[in-house]
Amino acid sequence: MYIEKLLKASSFHSEATQAVIDQLGVTEIGLIKHSYLVRKFSRLFVEQSSIFSDPVYMWGIEMGALLHDIGIMGVPKKIINKTEMLTDEEWNFLKDHGIDGKERAELLLRRVTKKRPELTEAITQIGDAILYHHENWDGTEYYGKKGEEIPLYAQIIRLSDSLESALKTRPNHRAYTLDEFIFQITADEQYKNHYNPELVELFVQFIQSNREAIEKSHITISEMGE
Ligand SMILES: [Fe+2]
Ligand SMILES: [Fe+2]
Repeated sequence: MYIEKLLKASSFHSEATQAVIDQLGVTEIGLIKHSYLVRKFSRLFVEQSSIFSDPVYMWGIEMGALLHDIGIMGVPKKIINKTEMLTDEEWNFLKDHGIDGKERAELLLRRVTKKRPELTEAITQIGDAILYHHENWDGTEYYGKKGEEIPLYAQIIRLSDSLESALKTRPNHRAYTLDEFIFQITADEQYKNHYNPELVELFVQFIQSNREAIEKSHITISEMGE
């Protein structure tokens, strides 16, 4: 099938990836590293857990993960870097990075794929994954989507995003160990209902089988175009 060949072609992949780096901008290096690691975890998780293997779906999860926070580009830096509690207005600004992100990602992907009709639906699904990547399984987040209403891509990105964020030290928390993260998504009353329990089971297996690689995960600029 022509589209499968196209998506597997390294030139197509690196063109899309390069466009993303250009869009995110070299000044946002923390965001680029975060995005690449979320893509890496999402891809490996989907592959190793055999969640799906269709090339269009694989392309969708990779691009969705890579672009999930692209809407952050539209949020003022003083809000992103603020260490104190956000005001309601600032919080609303931050919440909208999903809406803005969907728009930016769909525009970018349509341009990179030269509006190929075979990818129209996939691009909309990527946009929806970005829009809903902070939704909680129990419906307690931004847009109140719950359970299976949350697109599968968004559920997967949510787990990888939480893992990547947990592993690094931030202004408001120290880095967690993998065991602490596993506790958080499986047993912590405050967090465990945020994720699809079936996916969590697979994700814990994925972490256990890749413990060393995940613990050492870091990414250099030269690895980004892989
Ligand atoms: Fe986000
Ligand atoms: Fe993120």
